[in-house]
Amino acid sequence: MSTLMHQRHLLLLEKKHRRNETTWFVTKSALKKGETRKKNFHVVRRRLLLCCLILVTLVLYSRFYSSTKTTATSPSKMQQTTTRRRRAGTVKEFVGCNDDKDGNEDDEDEKEMDAKDFVLRSIETTRVRSKPFASYVHLCRVFPRKLYREMTEYFPPKEALAPAKLTSHKLRYKIDRVGSLLDLPEAMKKTFKNFTKTVEVWSKAEEILLSERLRETVFRKLEVDEVEKKTRSKDFRIQMDVGGFTLGPHPDSPKKIVTLMLYFPKEEEEESNKKLFGTCLYTKEQYETFADNDEGKEVLPSCEKKFLFEPNTGYAFKVGEESYHGVDDIPPRCERRTLLINWYSTSKPVGTQSGIFPNIWDIIRGDA
Ligand SMILES: *[C@@H]1O[C@H](CO)[C@@H](O)[C@H](O)[C@H]1NC(C)=O
Repeated sequence: MSTLMHQRHLLLLEKKHRRNETTWFVTKSALKKGETRKKNFHVVRRRLLLCCLILVTLVLYSRFYSSTKTTATSPSKMQQTTTRRRRAGTVKEFVGCNDDKDGNEDDEDEKEMDAKDFVLRSIETTRVRSKPFASYVHLCRVFPRKLYREMTEYFPPKEALAPAKLTSHKLRYKIDRVGSLLDLPEAMKKTFKNFTKTVEVWSKAEEILLSERLRETVFRKLEVDEVEKKTRSKDFRIQMDVGGFTLGPHPDSPKKIVTLMLYFPKEEEEESNKKLFGTCLYTKEQYETFADNDEGKEVLPSCEKKFLFEPNTGYAFKVGEESYHGVDDIPPRCERRTLLINWYSTSKPVGTQSGIFPNIWDIIRGDA
């Protein structure tokens, strides 16, 4: 009897022990699970934080990008602008050239004068202006008549130009330096009116405009402090802005010392385009009404001075913190032909960097 009881007792003990063991095992595994969960939670949280950080950076970057630039920043927005153009603000004053008074006298001058001297004289005889910002010049009869006529006639076709690299300038086609025309495929060269003539005429213009004498003349005129701002590189860009292109008010990259732009309207250019395509100069207040207001992008601010987009004319200005300028939206199927010369204080011109993201500073301050 006692042995039986003893056996039962032992059995019970064993059961109890087993139960304890299981409890212990359960608690242990539960503990283990909890720890791993905690660990996992830490890893997940860290990854989530990292993702959020990347996301926020990207969002901020794109927000920043679109808010500092014009509406033509993303392809979808660009589509919008091609269909729905921004309303341009009122123009307070158009700046044009008095073309009526040029008679035979000037023509005589043109025959005798070397083309470079002619261009230099055009710059030297113009008046320096300081409103809305200091300082800029409007240029009239820039080239001798014959050279200008040939430059317009043999302006490179759009097919030969490549979209500008900066994302905001997708509707701006350009070619840097006349020499790069020589690298075009033979089939492309055949699309030119006369490729040889194009290179001949535009090389002549390039030689004049990139000359040291011309730079000195422009810099002297605009009172550029050359000790502070030494020229390290320059641009010569034959450009075409097509329908949908837009460039809201911006001051230009601080890497730029001087911007010089010349106009090449087509012979059959509409009168309305002569008023529309010209560059506008803005006051700081006008710029701020544009920059501070997201909705304002639908409407461009009023424009203080606007150059007329006339043949053989152009302008140059000293780049500063307040050299605010811009271009109204180009209507569909239009081509705005220009020549852009930039002098930089950096060894590399703006907008030449490769990669997905353009230099953030170039974006903030704008280019061209
Ligand atoms: C093209 O221009 C070159 C250089 O001015 C000239 O010699 C040539 O005759 C022109 N070709 C045509 C087909 O007009």
